[in-house]
Amino acid sequence: MCGIVGYVGSKTYGPDVVISGLRRLEYRGYDSAGIAIRYNPGERSDEMYGHIIENWREQGGVDELYDSIPESVIWESDCVIGHTRWATHGAPSRRNAHPHTSMNRAITLVHNGIIENYETLKTKLIQEGYEFESQTDTEVLANWIEYIWEKSATDFVSAVRFALQDVVGAYAILVISPKSDQLIMAKKSSPLAIGVAEHGFIIASDATPIVEYTKDIIYLEDDQMAVIENNIDLRLMNLDATEIDPVIERVDLDLEQIEKGGFDSFMLKEINEQTETIQNCIRGRLTDDLEPLMMGGIDGIMPQLLRANKIFIIACGTSWHAALAGKNMIEKLARIPVEVDYASEFRYKDPIIRPGDVVIGITQSGETADTKAALEMAKERGASLFGIVNVVGSSIARLVDAGIYTHSGVEVGVASTKAFTGQVAALALLAMRMGRQLGNINDDSYLRLKSALRSIPKKVAKILANTDDILAIADEYTDEKYHDFLYLARGFNFPIALEGALKLKEISYIHAEGYPAAEIKHGPIALIDHEMPVIVIATKKGHYEKIVSNIHEIKSRNGKIIAIVTEGDETLKKIADHWIEIPESSEFFTPLFATIPLQLMSYYIAVMRNCNVDQPRNLAKSVTVE
Ligand code: G6P
Repeated sequence: MCGIVGYVGSKTYGPDVVISGLRRLEYRGYDSAGIAIRYNPGERSDEMYGHIIENWREQGGVDELYDSIPESVIWESDCVIGHTRWATHGAPSRRNAHPHTSMNRAITLVHNGIIENYETLKTKLIQEGYEFESQTDTEVLANWIEYIWEKSATDFVSAVRFALQDVVGAYAILVISPKSDQLIMAKKSSPLAIGVAEHGFIIASDATPIVEYTKDIIYLEDDQMAVIENNIDLRLMNLDATEIDPVIERVDLDLEQIEKGGFDSFMLKEINEQTETIQNCIRGRLTDDLEPLMMGGIDGIMPQLLRANKIFIIACGTSWHAALAGKNMIEKLARIPVEVDYASEFRYKDPIIRPGDVVIGITQSGETADTKAALEMAKERGASLFGIVNVVGSSIARLVDAGIYTHSGVEVGVASTKAFTGQVAALALLAMRMGRQLGNINDDSYLRLKSALRSIPKKVAKILANTDDILAIADEYTDEKYHDFLYLARGFNFPIALEGALKLKEISYIHAEGYPAAEIKHGPIALIDHEMPVIVIATKKGHYEKIVSNIHEIKSRNGKIIAIVTEGDETLKKIADHWIEIPESSEFFTPLFATIPLQLMSYYIAVMRNCNVDQPRNLAKSVTVE
């Protein structure tokens, strides 16, 4: 949610590093973008200050921004900051786009997060004679820093430090001034990483704009600031000015992971990567014969997990659907009650957490504000924290006591696909490990589960190799007259119905709802007519006969049935309007297979409707504001 990039170092790199970095961060927000280029004294003249800062902003994405910058602009600078926005305060517009500059032009900054007390600060600034151009909380922050700087007659760094002490909310900021050759950054709750390259420093919301230049990264912690001076000296400090030794981490991320690799979109690439990403999640953890599954990251917390009276799983969005799938798996094999909550609800509901309870957070990005805050709250209340996280080194990965990385690789498409199957695979491993250690899985069942686990990538590959039917069905339902879809399933597949509906909503803007199949009689059946496509996951294992009855109920009311069926199911082929076969599997693992045709169907419908599948309107990949 909002991406920020900055560069300090060699003049030849500055603007290009920031523009290409913004392109890599566009998944975080793409309703407007901007850059500020700082020129040194002598390169450009400025009557007031030593440096001059030129600011370019545009509504739309980074391409629109780049096209709007006149060719006459000097495309060389040793200090540049940039931003790609997901609007919170104020509609997307050039005026509300970052970077924002303070009234007397002493401060230019980019910001990711929300300044919660901006109204209070703004009122005070208005009393002091400040005027505002935008509706943003960020402009308030720029003016507040300037005001503190002028009022306290201190240096630039102290002014930022003092100003931040007055701020309530979340921020990752990059601040520059024409009066200084320093670039200052600070963070609280929103992520910020500093890449240490040979020719300079690349600062960004995550590692993706950095790895092209260096794998050496410093992750700033909450309430820390960093200052880069003379293009080479980096200092880290707390908000109280105590100095901190920087810790450089080496990130394991390749450029090809963050590029499209010949696919039309990141989403299609990521759907197709699932054979490999699920394999990556399982690899190294799936042992031979009766050996326990190897999951080093969870050994420490295993006693708490096995003793837990209750497990909470909290997450948002697609990760919340994975949580529902995980609940079914853990309850089935470990026989421990699991409560699934939306992180945004959990954090404000005064949850009953008892000693010994374990709270599991599931998150692709590891940065989702609500999930992080909910976990922090659970920690304060004494819960052990466990994470299922994709992004290595992310805030939540560092917050939890133990966890499992899903190893799905970088997911750029805003609508989550491979990260979801990675989460479900990780939860399956967790449930199996718990169930076995608790003595609930006998040797035969354990060997069967392991063999099923081993066969998952091959079955996923088979689904991905036969997508013509899915494409043909999508083609039929692309027509505008189909504006509502219903997704039905039962048992282990029910979370997949919810996830299928979410995928369609997110990228094609078609209204869709997921329901437990039997529930339709309590309302949704009233919607059924010949223009209402109903997608039913009707696989052989688990409530098959019951769901066939549900399908009959819909057919009797002229509903259109698209059934996800088990390979070789001739019965449903006679009843359904369309069917998509998936390989036979136990009920436990079916969610992993059933979800893939639904991802593809949403994808094809969205593409045929000319929607931007990687960057759906109004959405952002990493929701770092609550
Ligand atoms: C956003 C994304 C979703 C994602 C959700 C939770 O809404 O668009 O794809 O499922 O955030 O994100 P997380 O990173 O915590 O899994």
